Amino acid sequence: MRFKIAQIDEIKPGQGKSIQLNGKAIALFNVKGYYYAVDDSCSHMGAPLANGMLAGKSVTCEWHGASFDLASGEALNSPARGNITAYKVFVDGQNLEIEID
Ligand code: FES
Repeated sequence: MRFKIAQIDEIKPGQGKSIQLNGKAIALFNVKGYYYAVDDSCSHMGAPLANGMLAGKSVTCEWHGASFDLASGEALNSPARGNITAYKVFVDGQNLEIEID
């Protein structure tokens, strides 16, 4: 099922934003005009990832440096304790939507 989470002008290239959706925090990123969404919670100790450092299509957690692939949610280095969930992002006109089962 798709849910609207933001409008495209709410998030500039190189930025991340935390969005609450049905009680769940989602980190939304704009990487050079491509949008990615992952759970806004690091698998190490739960830090929010929306303010993490972007490098290509990966984000690095501010707290202890774990990195995650934004497209797959795959953990790329320690101290991550596992992968995070990545969501497919759809652009529908001015709206950004993500798909959640
Ligand atoms: S909480 Fe993210 S690396 Fe520790």
